[in-house]
Amino acid sequence: MELFEAVFTRRSVRQFTDEPLSETQLEIIFRAAMAATNSGNQQPWRFIVVDDPALRDTIGALDIERGPYHVSPQLVVVCADIGGMTWKMHWLADCGAAIQNMLLAAQALGLGGVWQELYPYHKRVVFVRNLLDIPATVYPMAVVALGHPVTQPSPVDRYDPDKIMRNTWRSGSCSLCDDL
Ligand SMILES: Cc1cc2nc3c(=O)[nH]c(=O)nc-3n(C[C@H](O)[C@H](O)[C@H](O)COP(=O)(O)O)c2cc1C
Repeated sequence: MELFEAVFTRRSVRQFTDEPLSETQLEIIFRAAMAATNSGNQQPWRFIVVDDPALRDTIGALDIERGPYHVSPQLVVVCADIGGMTWKMHWLADCGAAIQNMLLAAQALGLGGVWQELYPYHKRVVFVRNLLDIPATVYPMAVVALGHPVTQPSPVDRYDPDKIMRNTWRSGSCSLCDDL
């Protein structure tokens, strides 16, 4: 599958068959993740593949602060190792770029996935940190379920030229800007 096809057909997949990803497929997905743009080339991302059924189900059943997670044969907990970072404030953007690459790689392989947030839910972050023995300087920020889709959601076209401005914000002040 070529790049634009993957970009324009990717949707979040939340139901998976029992078939696990092969090691080759996982490697391609992590190669894509680690090819992402990132601040100062600090590459803070770390990935924990959770395929132990008991651990996977514990994460899947996590029901504090928001609803449980969708599970697949392999969950990937995406973490940021912020201990050695010079520009610590960029870890969220860096890991987000990596996750998007993971999801596009999965799509290109005929697989599917969904980004599920841990951050900004503090209790969830602490729970997963304790469950997976993650050190205090590492921030688990998302649970990405990856697998073979039961059904592939239809592509959607969200292109909206009204969301693109040129040179100035033509419609005047933005109410959100006061909060930024
Ligand atoms: C930061 C972030 C957090 C998300 N958290 C969840 C989540 O907790 N559970 C979930 O099912 N989907 C989650 N998603 C997926 C979005 O719901 C989904 O991408 C959005 O509805 C657009 O649909 P699409 O991915 O099918 O195009 C998240 C996506 C992002 C970028």
